[in-house]
Amino acid sequence: MRRERFIAGNWKMNKGASESLEFLRKLSVLLEQGEDIPDNVNMALFPQAVNIIPMADHIRSSGVNVLLGIQNIHCKPSGAFTGENSIPCAIEAGAKLALVGHSERRHIFREDDLLVSNKYLACLEQGIEPLLCVGETEEERNRGLTKDVIERQVSSVFSSDRVIMAEQERILIAYEPVWAIGTGMNATAGDARECCALIRDLLSGLGGPSLAARSLISYGGSVKSSNSEDYLEQEEIDGLLIGGASLDPDEFYRIICNAF
Ligand code: PGA
Repeated sequence: MRRERFIAGNWKMNKGASESLEFLRKLSVLLEQGEDIPDNVNMALFPQAVNIIPMADHIRSSGVNVLLGIQNIHCKPSGAFTGENSIPCAIEAGAKLALVGHSERRHIFREDDLLVSNKYLACLEQGIEPLLCVGETEEERNRGLTKDVIERQVSSVFSSDRVIMAEQERILIAYEPVWAIGTGMNATAGDARECCALIRDLLSGLGGPSLAARSLISYGGSVKSSNSEDYLEQEEIDGLLIGGASLDPDEFYRIICNAF
């Protein structure tokens, strides 16, 4: 049987509360009218933090089977950290997942490997499921450093005994080459497959084969409905992390339907 599927939309700094709810209403209608979504297809959305509460309320009352995630968290559960999001508060608001290490956080907000690994650990310790993003920049790719960068980013998180000992039910990772994000220049399915396979091998080396077997490894970077199947038909790619195309409910739904 196929591994689980993980189809997630990262809305970044887009959509207010009313637009977010309108999206959920449209998605619910599409899901009701269409084929049943198999249980192994996980759907998730990462809206702006301020919209998690109204979206979670809507999800609870409508029963639409979408997990919500927060785009950024602080390591500490509370304190004098103006502008940051606390994990316990995100959980209380209705978030089940947290993005960690997204390229925009690494490159625009200068989050380094140490901070990313601390955030990952904070998620495990405070009870929210992290989705770790890794990937090389265009310059690193041109210099032939893709594998080195992936290895460095994965091992900075998974060489920690505390992470390995946390016994997560599943590990969520997205391979997102920075040059492919928001550019329309998506990686070839073959390249994405190779990098996802590398991540699985690294996890196996760092935490043993059962860690690798519990991992759902997604590709992200200019995914849309017209190329989503190319990735999902690769044995090594379990899911997709979608930015721009996930803002449109019809397009997001088409991608979900391509996952089964
Ligand atoms: P994109 O973004 O699909 O718009 O390229 C992906 C992401 O940032 O996760």
